Amino acid sequence: MQIIINEQETAVLPGETILETARRIGYEIPSLCYSKADKHKSSCMVCAVKNKQNGQIIPSCTTLPTPGMEIETESEEIRLIRSLSLELLLSDHKADCEAPCSMVCPAGLDIEMMLRYYDNQRYPEAYHLIQLAFSLPEIACDTCKVPCEKACRRGAVDKAVSIRAIIKTVLEQKAIITDSENEKAELLPVQKIPFNSRLGRFTEKEKHYLKENIKSESRCLHCACAGESKCKLRRYAANAKIKRPRYEATSVFPAMHKEHITGNLWFEQAKCIRCGLCVYNTDNGFTFKDRGFGMQIIIPAENKKQINESIAGICPTGALYCVNH
Ligand code: SF4
Ligand code: SF4
Ligand code: SF4
Ligand code: FES
Repeated sequence: MQIIINEQETAVLPGETILETARRIGYEIPSLCYSKADKHKSSCMVCAVKNKQNGQIIPSCTTLPTPGMEIETESEEIRLIRSLSLELLLSDHKADCEAPCSMVCPAGLDIEMMLRYYDNQRYPEAYHLIQLAFSLPEIACDTCKVPCEKACRRGAVDKAVSIRAIIKTVLEQKAIITDSENEKAELLPVQKIPFNSRLGRFTEKEKHYLKENIKSESRCLHCACAGESKCKLRRYAANAKIKRPRYEATSVFPAMHKEHITGNLWFEQAKCIRCGLCVYNTDNGFTFKDRGFGMQIIIPAENKKQINESIAGICPTGALYCVNH
């Protein structure tokens, strides 16, 4: 069968969806709830294309080509629909891509990661991050007005993390630090993506939860998204030039609630777009609960041991991720 994609006659291979045909001949179409090798169902609409034959906007990831179809994959109208779909997903997304402290540090120190190392007594790695940001680490922060502590989210819970004091404590660990020069190469700063999902204010319930549950040495909430490096939602939002979604975050799910699943695998409900990929692709693992705005993904306790860490790779956001520190 032949169809037309962007005014180009194209042969369709057996079983291919519109998205697969278009990608095969070189057109880029974004997708979140689609995964080629896995079971999937349309829900996000970021893969929207137009069938010019009848004027319909359709999800290209699940729609099979039919004779005479005339598909358009790029236009102002399509960009708007994709952008709106992303904004709607983000309106239900209560999370920080980046930690507020790191965002305001004039030296560009990855404070959240440094505190993560500090909390795990990995002082050499914490020190090397400080070295990357300051040419003279010994006097780091001495003349700074510490905007990081003013931006710190822990301040809204009880008292901001003492970031400058912790930096000084790390710098005092000289004996451990000088033994670990080889680890430096792994710690190059990552490139930042322009779009940032912002958490907004904590509810009283969330504050209570965080106060009772986050009692690590630094008391840092580790605001930065641990699944950020693989998050397609953030990348597409940046590509669509979304700065702030037009709609306020209305998620009914608690912010920063991190559920341990198994091994290094974690789940955060407030970052889940309910695409269902984890549900359709695990046997007796993840499952849907409720409907409408309150619909959520749950993992019954008895199912957790059957879940493989590799499922994190299928999740298009930072809702499911692995950490090994
Ligand atoms: S899941 Fe993606 S969009 Fe959400 S906070 Fe993490 S990186 Fe940002
Ligand atoms: S809680 Fe931790 S990561 Fe969040 S702003 Fe404060 S120091 Fe930064
Ligand atoms: S946790 Fe599951 S349902 Fe939620 S975004 Fe990830 S794959 Fe989709
Ligand atoms: S990727 Fe097609 S509807 Fe989500």
